Amino acid sequence: MEIYVVPDAPATGVIAAGILAAVVRSKPNAVLGIATGSSPIPVYKALAAHGLDMSQVRAFALDEYVGLRAGHPQSYAEVVRREVTEQLGLDPARVAVPDGGAADPHQAAVNYDAAIREAGGIDVQLLGIGHNGHIAFNEPGSELDSRTRVEVLADRTRQANARYFRSLEDVPTRCITQGLGTILEARQLLMVVRGADKAEVLAAALSGPVSPDCPGSVLQLHPHVTVVADQAAAMHLGACNAQVRVQIATPSP
Ligand code: PGA
Repeated sequence: MEIYVVPDAPATGVIAAGILAAVVRSKPNAVLGIATGSSPIPVYKALAAHGLDMSQVRAFALDEYVGLRAGHPQSYAEVVRREVTEQLGLDPARVAVPDGGAADPHQAAVNYDAAIREAGGIDVQLLGIGHNGHIAFNEPGSELDSRTRVEVLADRTRQANARYFRSLEDVPTRCITQGLGTILEARQLLMVVRGADKAEVLAAALSGPVSPDCPGSVLQLHPHVTVVADQAAAMHLGACNAQVRVQIATPSP
């Protein structure tokens, strides 16, 4: 595992975008796993600045709410369209988000897992981490080998995401999320973390026990992981074990 510690959030974007850009340069039809939330926003901005031809890239989002009306501005289908597809110049037909409006969301989840496989698997999966250790919407208690499925959102997740909605009541209670087992099948994992409020959970994920109690701990099971953290998020990483290589990176603007 490689960890880059950088001064601030824009710098996390520059470093992570450099990694994604290298993948796309070497494989113009790469399959990217994309994430929503605030952490990846600087990544997409920095990747757009590379000006790469992304027209052959395929992308799969990690998760989606169940039960929002089609076109709801906070549905991840819409967030992905605004923040990723349009900004990066992806072909909308090559960008997939789980179908949270499906009549049978359980079947939609199974189909999504199959679609990732049929696309040849994900080359590099971008990830954030939640305060409770979740990755995608795999809340604590998720099986380490879980597949894409319907999940109930943890109260803490709904509270954190209420900032995007008018009120907590408006935040959906269910979602479709890629499973931990699904995520572990990506050939490379790229986690972006910022802020002191994530420092404890990041240290727990990277150096605590591998356990459903901290879903992000599955990173320890994957052979090719890069974590890009700002200094605040990285402040407890000193205790990480010897396999972890921490580098201080200062990207040029
Ligand atoms: P954030 O969310 O990037 O908005 O902090 C990450 C997550 O909850 O997975």
